Amino acid sequence: MKLATGAGLFVSFEGGEGAGKSTQIRRLADMLRRKGLDVITTREPGGSAGAEALRHVLLSGAAEPFGVRMEALLFAAARNDHVETVIRPALAKGFVVLCDRFMDSSRVYQGVTGNLEPEFIDALERIAVNGVVPHLTLILDLAAATGLARARGRLTAEANGAAAPDRFEREEVDTHEKRRQAFLDIAAADPKRCRVIDADRPVGEIADDIAGAIQPFLADLKPVSQPESVGAE
Ligand code: TYD
Repeated sequence: MKLATGAGLFVSFEGGEGAGKSTQIRRLADMLRRKGLDVITTREPGGSAGAEALRHVLLSGAAEPFGVRMEALLFAAARNDHVETVIRPALAKGFVVLCDRFMDSSRVYQGVTGNLEPEFIDALERIAVNGVVPHLTLILDLAAATGLARARGRLTAEANGAAAPDRFEREEVDTHEKRRQAFLDIAAADPKRCRVIDADRPVGEIADDIAGAIQPFLADLKPVSQPESVGAE
């Protein structure tokens, strides 16, 4: 399979709250490392020093009073820093990059449920990704109510309820259900890049589906870590 960007493989994970993205990313990274591949796992918003600085601003709700347009611009700024300082260089070296959320989250959260015009979202996306588009996007699909219940259970378990839901988790189930549909619409419109994975199943079954989806992309990948040639003659 011909890869579009450099020699590596770029896989993004998308979906609503509580869909199990981080668990699946961990499992897939382990599986690929066992095959000898070089993998980096990263996330958005964040993943680079500049983007992590914006992550706090976005998730705390500090930018919320300035409007959805401002938030969309900040997500795009964070994404561009992440792409240029982490993702593009890693792909150029031949790494597999597994990213927890990417451009489809902006299309859905800021575009669809934030009611921003598609032209504005498209323009920001072009600038932010600057040609670095995932080879494969795995959309973990789950009923919004189930995902929210899981996400809230996790928050309570993590810190005895002291960890508050983030700016986006606070919204209503209807909004989350709209997002679910919007991710499904993206997948239907771009079936070459996107695979929908039923996330309402045991973790191992979901992992098996993901392993199957990535399989065709692995043929051209080779381990890039070479032993250090210290003191070569
Ligand atoms: P995070 O704590 O990473 O949670 P998770 O990915 O497990 O839901 O929160 C990221 C939040 O930011 C999430 O609610 C979705 C939102 N978001 C956007 O609104 N737009 C974006 O472009 C991205 C990347 C995330």
